[in-house]
Amino acid sequence: MAQRRKVMTVFGTRPEGTKMVPVIKALREKSDWFDVVIVNTGQHRELLDQVFQAHGLEPDHDLAVMQHRQSLTGTLVRMLSGLDELLIKERPDLVLVHGDTNTAAAGSLASFYNRIAVGHVEAGLRTFDKYNPYPEEMNRRIAGITADVHFAPTPLSRDNLLRETVKPDSIFVTGQTGVDATLAMLAQPHEFDAPVLRELDFRAQRVVAVTAHRRENWGEPMHNMFTAMRDLVDRHPDVLLVYPVHLSPSVRELAFPILDGHPRIKLIDPITHPDMLRLASRSYMVMSDSGGLQEETPSMGVPQVLMRETTERPEAIAAGVVIKAGTSYDGVYEAGHRLLSDPDLHRRMAQARNPFGDGRASSRIADYLGWMYGFRSEKPDEFQPE
Ligand code: UD1
Repeated sequence: MAQRRKVMTVFGTRPEGTKMVPVIKALREKSDWFDVVIVNTGQHRELLDQVFQAHGLEPDHDLAVMQHRQSLTGTLVRMLSGLDELLIKERPDLVLVHGDTNTAAAGSLASFYNRIAVGHVEAGLRTFDKYNPYPEEMNRRIAGITADVHFAPTPLSRDNLLRETVKPDSIFVTGQTGVDATLAMLAQPHEFDAPVLRELDFRAQRVVAVTAHRRENWGEPMHNMFTAMRDLVDRHPDVLLVYPVHLSPSVRELAFPILDGHPRIKLIDPITHPDMLRLASRSYMVMSDSGGLQEETPSMGVPQVLMRETTERPEAIAAGVVIKAGTSYDGVYEAGHRLLSDPDLHRRMAQARNPFGDGRASSRIADYLGWMYGFRSEKPDEFQPE
């Protein structure tokens, strides 16, 4: 029997948390194979703590790096130094990082300097535009060049890595672990956690669920997006816009002056991730600049207007479930207006086909690592979209 391996998961923001929880659960199901150590860098506080609570998990280590209005370099430095100490103490066999946050960049770099193997979950997403999304495009490339094992969610993300001369036998196509989380969540009874959401009447009004927080959209793009949204609500008297505003002061200072005070716009505090999925799944459509929601709404049959100039998830546009509107006033207004005025377009987009996953990505990752470390003889099958 091969020797039990210590796998350290490192994450620090809410989206990483929601997408790594299924991986942690899958690894912990194989307790004969893996000892899982959970590290929270604390890049986020309230937003990520919710995720741990919802799943009854506790981090083994919390570096608590978050500061008010933290700078990108500042968080990275604090994380590198905290992780370095921890890696020397714990000496894991493998560090698993996720996606494209500063935590992912710090986790992979600190592991590399300590000669510890890195597994990158959600590997190979690219826009090939250095500042879009900023700084995520560079963060995921940093994780990509330091990783020893690349868990690419789709065939397209594998191809991106191959173009960067990553060794084919270090890439494994898994599907999105975020889809695992979404499907598990949607299978549960739909009772909102937040009282403000329980008051919504989804039959009397068409609810448009909004999220917007991206750094490259701070300033003029967000000003355009929010003004277009307000005008859309004025144009469509049966629409109610619901926007849980991110805790970042840079976002709140832009959103409130434009959107607050309108009788059919609800600006609410951040909601739990399960509530976000429940809200999106019952909405007429979603308007967002998020990465993860592009993978989540196709499982729900809810059309989405994407308010970004680029996307690393073109599979959603090809599948016809997302319209890329850009961040200009006209782009956002026109895409929103089309979907709100054209029931045929809405119906076509709502016929969901999810190109991102089948709900088994996390178990594939656990099985692949089991095979890699000699606990099972067969390599698991890769994810293949329909
Ligand atoms: C980060 C990630 C982004 C991810 C997003 C999800 C980076 C560079 N960016 O962006 O990829 O999509 O998280 O949320 O890694 N704050 C709180 N409490 C919290 C969380 C944030 O008060 O629980 C505030 C803090 O004032 C902080 C600010 O939000 O300074 C920004 O947080 P930061 O992690 O720097 O970037 P995000 O915009 O959240």
